[in-house]
Amino acid sequence: MRVLSIETSCDDTAVAIVELDEETQSIRVVANLLSSQTALHAAWGGVVPMLAAREHSRNIQPLLTAVFTEAALTPNDINLIAVTAGPGLTPALVIGVQTAKTLAYRWHKPLLGIHHIEGHIYANFICPSQSKMERQYNTFPLLALVVSGGHTQLILMRDHFNYEILGETQDDAVGEAFDKVAKMLGLAYPGGPEVARHASCVNPPTAEIQVPQNHITLPRPMINSGDYNFSFSGIKTAVLYTLQKQNPETLTDENFINTVCAEFQNASVEVLVSKTKQAINQYAPKTVVIAGGVSANVHLREQLAHMINQNFSDVAFLTPEFKYSLDNAAMIGSAALLRWQRMSEHDRNQALTTWEMLEPNANLKLQSF
Ligand code: KG4
Ligand code: ZN
Repeated sequence: MRVLSIETSCDDTAVAIVELDEETQSIRVVANLLSSQTALHAAWGGVVPMLAAREHSRNIQPLLTAVFTEAALTPNDINLIAVTAGPGLTPALVIGVQTAKTLAYRWHKPLLGIHHIEGHIYANFICPSQSKMERQYNTFPLLALVVSGGHTQLILMRDHFNYEILGETQDDAVGEAFDKVAKMLGLAYPGGPEVARHASCVNPPTAEIQVPQNHITLPRPMINSGDYNFSFSGIKTAVLYTLQKQNPETLTDENFINTVCAEFQNASVEVLVSKTKQAINQYAPKTVVIAGGVSANVHLREQLAHMINQNFSDVAFLTPEFKYSLDNAAMIGSAALLRWQRMSEHDRNQALTTWEMLEPNANLKLQSF
């Protein structure tokens, strides 16, 4: 069973061909291509939706041709098409959705619309490329810590495609806060990886809890709120106040910038790890996964792994491979294949025509199936 998947929710045009080994039920990526627009949007300090749409429409056709060439397959070898239906930027989503609908019509294939965050979660079910090892699929209940540029959520899954949102950010997403702090410090776009890079100059990643080697202390908002909600705009504003108190030379001092980045990263990660620990205690999941672009953050990965190893030795901790942490189409294919496996014959037949109703939805809500 093979899927052609497309993702255009933000500033990366991505297409992939992913297959499910029916015998082992494992997900393997046959080809995964991406055309990044980072350099284009960097000039504007953020993603410009109409520019993103223009680039998607330029890039998607060559990428589709290239993905079939790389996979040495033809459309006849594809059983299913999948596309990110939302959430995201409407002009950007439209390009992927319209392309997928056109292909479903032209090739007479079923089409599934996938939620972007669902894709990030299912990136954890892709078999590691370097190993023949299978990922475990009967690992529910599963707790997903979702950390992206638009979302920060703790989601409990009692089974595949069954989502209970335990809590979420009340203001900024954690990735958004990383990006805004980077901007305040005059760092390059996109900010998250830049903040992480500067932070690692102060605190090289280790498995130990890290003590900031400086006099800047930022708040850990809602860390003791007793629920699973988050707030990141408070940490961001505290950074702003800290910067406002400095003289101009300090603001451009490399050591100072590194120190602010390290303390901001420590504060954010501490809150994420603390709430995850609390949720593991209450819900006793068999598996914990991280999902979304901030899952590429090495300090977050290490602190979560450390907390889980120390306190919950029987809980499996999965992280996506780095190339599937950030936006990509393979994750959309992974979610679509595992969903297809669980669909009735009737629903599969419906998917040959229900795509006519598929529309991009910038505010799509995560739905259980
Ligand atoms: O999932 P993603 O690629 O796009 C969305 O769905 O939003 O996540 C992008 C976010 C951005 O805010 C980016 O700055 C952040 O992930 N990010 C990171 C790192 N790599 C990407 N944040 C912290 N540390 C990183 N290494
Ligand atoms: Zn994403």
